[in-house]
Amino acid sequence: RTIYVLNGPNLNLLGKRQPEIYGRDTLDDVAELCRGACTPGVDIRLEQSNHEGQIVDWIHEARGAACGIVINAAAYTHTSVAILDALNTFEGPVIEVHISNIHKREPFRHHSYVASRADGMIAGLGVEGYAAAVRRICALTG
Ligand code: DQA
Repeated sequence: RTIYVLNGPNLNLLGKRQPEIYGRDTLDDVAELCRGACTPGVDIRLEQSNHEGQIVDWIHEARGAACGIVINAAAYTHTSVAILDALNTFEGPVIEVHISNIHKREPFRHHSYVASRADGMIAGLGVEGYAAAVRRICALTG
């Protein structure tokens, strides 16, 4: 079983980008954290893109191949009907993650298109939210 952990724009700079908001852990650290959160027999495919269509393509690839999706769509969270539509074609559990608490921030970050599909949402727990999301998918699909 494979969990897809999909990351949107600017998260390639995680650890360097606004560390006061997003912390100092990198996306490689997130991958390690996610692997450590898997139950036996589950693995992780972690991807990041700055391009909306690439994220849509990975969600399509997840169909029939992934047991669940963890997604931090970053800024596309707040804009992308295309990512929402793609997630609605996926049959398994979807958990939305935000490193920061989007509800404590600017009003334009309060609305999430992903949230209307996600089975769960974690915001404001830092990168630990990814591990919690992976544990949840393992529990739901175990
Ligand atoms: C984010 C929150 C988004 O509003 C922002 O655009 C990001 C990261 C988070 O993980 O806190 O890029 O998704």
